[in-house]
Amino acid sequence: MEEKKGMSRRSFLKTAAAVGAALTIQPAIDKVKAANVAFNGENALSTEKGGMPHRTLGTGRAAFEVSAIGFGVMGMTYNRSQHPDKKQCIRLLHEAVERGVTLFDTAIIYGPLTNENLAGEALAEFKDRINVTTKFGHEVIDGKGTGRQDSRPATIRKYCEDSLRRLRLDTLSMFYQHRADPNVPAEEVAQTIADLMKEGKVQHWGMCEVSADTIRRAHTVCSLTAIQSEYHLMHRDVETNGVLNTCRELGIGFVPYSPINRGFLGGCINEYTVFDPTNDNRQTLPRFRPEAIRANTRIVNVLQQFGRTRGMTSAQVALGWLLQKAPWIVPIPGTTKLSHLEENLCTLDFDLAAEEWRELETAVVALPVVGDRYNAEQQRQVGR
Ligand SMILES: NC(=O)c1ccc[n+]([C@@H]2O[C@H](COP(=O)([O-])OP(=O)(O)OC[C@H]3O[C@@H](n4cnc5c(N)ncnc54)[C@H](OP(=O)(O)O)[C@@H]3O)[C@@H](O)[C@H]2O)c1
Repeated sequence: MEEKKGMSRRSFLKTAAAVGAALTIQPAIDKVKAANVAFNGENALSTEKGGMPHRTLGTGRAAFEVSAIGFGVMGMTYNRSQHPDKKQCIRLLHEAVERGVTLFDTAIIYGPLTNENLAGEALAEFKDRINVTTKFGHEVIDGKGTGRQDSRPATIRKYCEDSLRRLRLDTLSMFYQHRADPNVPAEEVAQTIADLMKEGKVQHWGMCEVSADTIRRAHTVCSLTAIQSEYHLMHRDVETNGVLNTCRELGIGFVPYSPINRGFLGGCINEYTVFDPTNDNRQTLPRFRPEAIRANTRIVNVLQQFGRTRGMTSAQVALGWLLQKAPWIVPIPGTTKLSHLEENLCTLDFDLAAEEWRELETAVVALPVVGDRYNAEQQRQVGR
């Protein structure tokens, strides 16, 4: 760990944040005191290694310890418009490892294949220290997505071998089903994964965007480590559709994807933002139409306003809100910039009291979100 005159970088940042708070007005001091109480509560971060707090996804044999914030690799090659060249992406991934990130998320469909290739090239050398999680389910033929789902046992096995080769690994830390295949029951998928685990090819498994009922059925056959679904201040379905409650009850972890709402809650997107027509799915999402962006900017303004007196950016408010929801939640923001990586990881240096988060929620709930998160075809593939 980096030392600064006997003080770790994290302690240094914490002290600096505390000093900063002390220089502001009295209510801010009260908030820091309240925050210290909250830090010892149920949602306190579990362990701290290499300067980065850790959390555990899943329980028992399915337990998987990872950094409290992961890194979504997708946008480095796929769906987030222009990205830096491969050398710069590899350097940024190494910076993330250096800062203690141990959970990196990719998928076969990202690219397709280019994202796994990048993750393999950049991260294989750290395989004893970090984990790369990947996903099967979307059918990919000759390097192209077909738009269909394929989770037949033989296909899962083939995709597992292909992912191992691209990621340059002997075993996958975690293999998620990306979207459910309506033709293959969850029990059959779970049994295939259980077999791959026996063979040592897969360590943990998870499912994305599935219903509470599917989670229960799959978990009975092979213990799930995590569910990965969209969850952030502008999309909270998992709070009401039984998914988070089922995870809590069964001891399954939760990995919120797109935790900054695909960059929107970071405040760098406005109605004039042009998304690359060849490499950005945001232009297909109703919530990213100019009129929706214009209306929903009021929500970003609330996060910015909330963060202003606490020294937090809106991205940090978005991530901090997720982290305080439960100690088994691990968000995976993606970025192509060192400054954003550092900003996102520094979220862990802020401890706010439960009533402060309630205050934020009340302000956000008062502003209805304009536009659906997915178009009809994408929506059809979730919640099965
Ligand atoms: N399971 C699934 O179905 C599924 C679906 C989607 C995504 N995912 C996973 O979730 C990961 C993250 O999702 P995502 O990329 O859709 O959304 P995200 O993490 O919410 O947002 C990423 C976007 O936010 C910007 N950003 C990051 N940090 C920022 C900050 N501090 N301030 C302002 N902007 C910031 C990034 O741009 P810069 O590059 O400019 O920082 C990037 O365009 C993906 O990499 C993928 O692994 C899974």
